[in-house]
Amino acid sequence: MIVPIGSAGEATRRTGTSGPHPARSVAVHGAGDQRRCEPDPSDAPGAAVTSQTPERRSAPAAASRWRLPRSWRRATLVLHVISAGAWIGIDVIVAVLVLTGWFGAEVNVRSLAYRALAEFVVRPMLGSGLACLATGVVLGVGTAWGLVRYWWVAVKLALNLALCILIVVLLVPGMDAVGAYGEHLLTGTPSSTQVGRLFFPPAVSLSVLTFATVLAVCKPWGRLRRSTARRDDR
Ligand code: HEM
Repeated sequence: MIVPIGSAGEATRRTGTSGPHPARSVAVHGAGDQRRCEPDPSDAPGAAVTSQTPERRSAPAAASRWRLPRSWRRATLVLHVISAGAWIGIDVIVAVLVLTGWFGAEVNVRSLAYRALAEFVVRPMLGSGLACLATGVVLGVGTAWGLVRYWWVAVKLALNLALCILIVVLLVPGMDAVGAYGEHLLTGTPSSTQVGRLFFPPAVSLSVLTFATVLAVCKPWGRLRRSTARRDDR
C-alpha cells in the first residue's frame, strides 16, 4: 500500500527547498523505503503540489504536461547515471595519463601516455558528456523537475553545457600537438607544446562533476521562481 506523505509544493512553500525527491510516497508494507526506487512521475514536484492524483487534477492542466512513462523514466535515469559515471571515470583516466606523462620515470612511458591521451581519451569524454547532457535534458523535460524550474537542475544544465563547450573549444583542437609531443619525446626533440596546461582539464572537470553529483543527490535551493510554484499549485 502506498501512502502519500505531503506535497512538494507544501515543502517548497514551507522551507524554500524542493524536498528530498519528487516521489512523495512511502511503502508501508515492509518492502523497504521506496521513496528512491519507486519514483512516480505523477507524484513529482509540480504534479504533486496539490496532493491530488493525476485523475483528480483538472483535465486541461493534466493534458498540457507531457511526462515520461515510468519505465522510460527509469531507463533514461539509468543511462544518465551511467553516462555521468563514465564521464567521471574518463576524467580519472585523463588525470592518470597527464600525471604519467609529466612525472613518468621512463621516456617511452611518458610518450605513450601523451599519445594515448591524444588518440583515445578526449572523444569518449565528449561523448559521455553529451550523453549525460541529452539524458539529463530528457529527464528534465519529461519529469516535473523541468529544465529551469529548480535551481539544482538549471545549474547542472549550465555546468554540463560549459564543460562540453570547453572540451570542444579548448581540449580537442590541442590534441594533435599533444600526440606529436609524445612522439617527439621518443626522438629527444619534444616540441614546445605546453603540456603543463593539461593538468587543468581533469582538475576542473572532476571538481565540477563532483559538485554536479552532489547537486543531483541533495537537490538543494528549491525553485527558481516562486510564481512558478504558485502557478503549478493551481
Ligand atoms: C553535469 C553532469 C551531471 C551529473 C554528474 C549528473 C548526475 C545525476 C545523478 C547522479 C542523478 C541521480 C540522482 C538521484 O536519483 O538521486 C541525476 C538525476 C537527474 N539529473 Fe543529472 N547529472 C548531470 C547533468 C544533468 C543535466 C544537464 C540535467 C538536465 C538539464 C540533469 C537532470 C537531472 C534530473 C531531472 C534528474 C532527476 C531524474 C529523476 O529523478 O527522475 N542532469 N543526475
